[in-house]
Amino acid sequence: MEDRLLSSSLREEDSKTEYSLRPHALNEYIGQDAVKEHMRIYIAAAKNRGEPLDHALLYGPPGLGKTTLAGIIANEMGVNLRITSGPAISHAGDLAALLTNLAPGDVLFIDEIHRLNANVEEVLYPAMEDFALDIIIGKGPSARSIRLDLPKFTLVGATTRMGMLTGPLRDRFGIKEQLELYTPETLKEIVVRSASILNIEIDGDGAIEIASRARGTPRIANRLLRRVRDFAEVRGNGVIDLDAARDGLAMLAIDELGLDAVDRRMLDTMITKFEGRPVGLDTIAASTGEDATTIEDVYEPFLMQLGFIARTPRGRIVMPAGYRHMGYKPRDEQIRLEV
Ligand code: ADE
Repeated sequence: MEDRLLSSSLREEDSKTEYSLRPHALNEYIGQDAVKEHMRIYIAAAKNRGEPLDHALLYGPPGLGKTTLAGIIANEMGVNLRITSGPAISHAGDLAALLTNLAPGDVLFIDEIHRLNANVEEVLYPAMEDFALDIIIGKGPSARSIRLDLPKFTLVGATTRMGMLTGPLRDRFGIKEQLELYTPETLKEIVVRSASILNIEIDGDGAIEIASRARGTPRIANRLLRRVRDFAEVRGNGVIDLDAARDGLAMLAIDELGLDAVDRRMLDTMITKFEGRPVGLDTIAASTGEDATTIEDVYEPFLMQLGFIARTPRGRIVMPAGYRHMGYKPRDEQIRLEV
């Protein structure tokens, strides 16, 4: 099979360590208690019946562990995991190649499933529903369709944008689970676990400091942990305590709420360049040099959760809390919008 269709899960910076930090079983997975409890039951029931798990849709902001959870599902079911993504499957034939290469019970993980194109989705429907591929042979009046049986498999789809999924696709998932941002206390447990796997010495204060600035996201917490370790090893004695964590995070320009340089540039641009008027997403993207999708998926949800920005029909606005955090006095107009 063509390898370009399968993403390696090792994509990003520090990806090898990221991979080594991934829990492999539900009881190693920290947080998301409701999701874990549901999955435990569905997995046990499917195994009891000797059937593959129903198709599952995982949704929520990036970095919360959707791929990790897909890996755990495959492990717990005792089957293989195949990882791909919506944009990687550009033709119906690509999907057919992936599906016909699955072994019975396998988990096919499609990341960013909201980015599948319509032709590919059409092929996915009968595959999900009847474990069948409808193939058209020939062209014009002599064209005919044959049905190929597929092994029974489990599709695990992941998306950051539930709203961008088509209704028919959404309806074909028997299991839908929403992953939520982690609390600092839960992230602290993840930081401590990761530190122990990576042989990093860290104390409780150092761990909670990193956890509190990781925007509710394990992927960010683990990245900050690795960068603060670099800092502690070069500038200190290698141990991450409160001071080392604070100094390391300051070097990374991560503030006490976890905002980074991009968040602050966004807020600053909206306040100073646009003087608090509503700004469209593309305008924010162009004037901060960030990609619009990244702003929408990564930066905006957290700034909205903090109550720093809001969406209005005319565009994004900075809320009074955002002004204050950036050291500006809130505009009167903004205060009126808030009440
Ligand atoms: N590493 C990343 N996410 C994790 C989680 N939820 N539990 C444990 N380790 C993790």
